[in-house]
Amino acid sequence: MQVGKLVERWRGAGMKVGFVPTMGALHQGHLSLVSLALGEADRVIVSIFVNPSQFDRGEDLSSYPSNFDEDLKKLDEAGAHCVFFPSVDEIYPEGFSTSIHVSGLTDTLCGRFRSGHFDGVATVCAILLSIVRPDIALFGRKDAQQLAVIRRMVDDLRLGVEIHAGDIVREPDGLAMSSRNSCLDPEERKQASVINSGLSRAAELVLEGERDAERICSAVREVIDKASLATLQYLELVDPDSMKPLSKLTTPALLAVAVYFGHTRLIDNLILEP
Ligand code: PAF
Repeated sequence: MQVGKLVERWRGAGMKVGFVPTMGALHQGHLSLVSLALGEADRVIVSIFVNPSQFDRGEDLSSYPSNFDEDLKKLDEAGAHCVFFPSVDEIYPEGFSTSIHVSGLTDTLCGRFRSGHFDGVATVCAILLSIVRPDIALFGRKDAQQLAVIRRMVDDLRLGVEIHAGDIVREPDGLAMSSRNSCLDPEERKQASVINSGLSRAAELVLEGERDAERICSAVREVIDKASLATLQYLELVDPDSMKPLSKLTTPALLAVAVYFGHTRLIDNLILEP
């Protein structure tokens, strides 16, 4: 049965439908979104679609981890009711020519380095939401800029779906869970916990009364620089709604970071409260 028809049937029977879009290679972060969805909806659909239009470099797409059989097993155990795994042709049929650009929010952080990435994300999310037509859709806070872009796009296009966010899930050493963690070699993986140590250092400084963005960022940089395999791509304190850079911490702010370990790019963030 087509996923749209199934959702129509569920909603016709008075059920609330939750949707978790993913690109597969599922980890505890995705599964926590499924469990959040199960708490808020009667039926939960998870999509697995590695979206080519959000990758800016060919090799990044081809090396994106995938483990479809394991994913299905995990989703079954987690209690998801339906897995939607469309083909590229189903999402982008011949002649497809539309792209959604959310301006402003995409000028900073990842948007500065991944040209076209958020257009790809916004476009595929709009398509997935139009096909599935859920009541709520859930996204992780690790991709804070993505979450802001999707919220904006859903509001602007009046898509009529509630967007809910799930907290970042971390490994025991603090590394934020990500499908890309499996691409790290053992030494890179060991050193990658430095990202969370850096963010924790920022939280400590704020508790001690530091409010200056540059001083906070330079302390975090110092921690991350201790990892010989880390290459910092960006570290910025921004407004969590507009994603605009801040020079002082006067209201809750998002400290967001992207770090390369070898070819693997990891992102993480923390909300700092003054
Ligand atoms: O966060 C992801 O996994 C992807 O960006 C998403 C939201 C599934 C769109 O392809």
